[in-house]
Amino acid sequence: MSRLDSAIRRLQAQRECLAAAARLIRGIDGPVLELGLGNGRTYDHLRSLLPEREIFAFDRAVDAHPDCVPDADHIVLGEMPDVFAAAQGRIGAPAALAHCDIGTGDPAASAVLAYRIGPALDPLLAPGAVVISDRALVVSRWYLTPLPPAVEPGRYFMYRVGGA
Ligand SMILES: C[S@@+](CC[C@H](N)C(=O)[O-])C[C@H]1O[C@@H](n2cnc3c(N)ncnc32)[C@H](O)[C@@H]1O
Repeated sequence: MSRLDSAIRRLQAQRECLAAAARLIRGIDGPVLELGLGNGRTYDHLRSLLPEREIFAFDRAVDAHPDCVPDADHIVLGEMPDVFAAAQGRIGAPAALAHCDIGTGDPAASAVLAYRIGPALDPLLAPGAVVISDRALVVSRWYLTPLPPAVEPGRYFMYRVGGA
């Protein structure tokens, strides 16, 4: 598969999973966490899917398209997952959805982050919350949820937080 095909499939998988997650959290109150603001593409898409929800975006620095920069109250800058605990007060309520889009060009750093991020994220999530991720994450109270039919297994990961 060419890199172009692979990039297109990744973006299609993201869009499918974001849409499915938005449906799954209909009965669950709480904000949305966008982990990896990047260019702001998926943040912008989440805003359009879930206009009634507060969205908090995380990244090391703001490098998003100017139209996709959250206001200062809704962006958490710094190294994930170290910033999660301090951000909990500002977020104010357990989150209904977290989208982890944390991959970078450094596979080793991405693997370490994927290992650390789930356990650190878990205390920020409501029972029944949905986590979608570009990396497999392991947290004992989360269970894998079927991907939308159009998404190839392994391209994206979708979890539900137990205890709903
Ligand atoms: C794939 S990009 C996100 C793309 C974005 N969701 C979009 O649709 O435009 C991954 C982002 O995660 C951020 N990131 C990766 N590891 C991080 C870490 N440990 N702490 C903070 N930000 C991190 C990078 O700075 C980068 O902007």
